[in-house]
Amino acid sequence: MYRFLLLLFFIIYTSCITQTKQEGPGIGFGSCLQNGGGEAYLWEALNKERLDLFIFAGDNVYADPFNGAQLKVKYDYLAANKGFQSFMESTKSVAIYDDHDFGLNDSGRENLIKDEAAKQCLDFFKVPQDHPRRKHAGVYGDYMIEVNSVKVQVILLDTRYFRSPYEFSSEKDKKYGPTKNPKSTVLGHEQWIWLKKTVKAEADFKVVVSSIQVIPDKRGQECWGNFPLERERLLSLLSKVNEPVIFCSGDAHFAELSEVNFKGKHFYDFTSSALFHPHNTKEGTPTKYSSFPNEYRVKGSAYTAGNFGVLKFFKNDTQKKCQLILKRNTGEQVFTHDVK
Ligand SMILES: [Fe+2]
Repeated sequence: MYRFLLLLFFIIYTSCITQTKQEGPGIGFGSCLQNGGGEAYLWEALNKERLDLFIFAGDNVYADPFNGAQLKVKYDYLAANKGFQSFMESTKSVAIYDDHDFGLNDSGRENLIKDEAAKQCLDFFKVPQDHPRRKHAGVYGDYMIEVNSVKVQVILLDTRYFRSPYEFSSEKDKKYGPTKNPKSTVLGHEQWIWLKKTVKAEADFKVVVSSIQVIPDKRGQECWGNFPLERERLLSLLSKVNEPVIFCSGDAHFAELSEVNFKGKHFYDFTSSALFHPHNTKEGTPTKYSSFPNEYRVKGSAYTAGNFGVLKFFKNDTQKKCQLILKRNTGEQVFTHDVK
């Protein structure tokens, strides 16, 4: 009897371990967090995920029009949110800024407090003083992380610090249009050099985080598409790497999944926005932003209520897989999509 119970315990124990390994919590990300950090249910939903890493993809606070003191007040306000505190204690996180936590709506390199904004972002999200991200201008950097025995390189881009000004569009309902200026840049010279070197690191998957959308390019809002040469340069560089590449982006005030085949490589742009923001609507209601055309959108993936994204990774002898999951900011699943 004793031996039987011992055997039974062993079977249950090993099956639990195997299940945990197979499930793998994964990497979460989200953007656009209303000042104050939102309601407790958002942080409860995120805590339940038991994520290996969470990426704050920008607009983590709203502090424009800009000044450094105002930005600090907004970060302090977020820090005081009890739900946010418990999430930060339980889950490792990294962050980049977008325009509102950079200090000015839609701003780029012309922003006068860009160094202050970069420092406050790195300080608030506790990037160590000796980390490589502290050794250059802007907040770009990369992390190698193992999720469920899958090696994932997380590349954080800075699409603000070095970015040239946008050109306004003459088309109705479009704010910005594509520039023809070959000198216009999103990443800037130094960051491009760093990126070319960084993408050579070997991993099973590359997750490239851009605060603004990479693949949807004709929306007339902020996106890489306003700099067609830079977008092409990015896709071209990443089309040469061996690993599958998944972009994670934010800023858009709704979620969607976009895909494009570029020079024989298949790319996904998984957009999650907003974690918690008044622009979000009830389930299924289109918004001004979600209604703009996106020829690359995976059918049915637009979602306008509060949300976050989760990337789960799996590996067996023959295949590596990443599952992209969009979740409502209360934790329920909205859609899943497999990347092999
Ligand atoms: Fe933004």
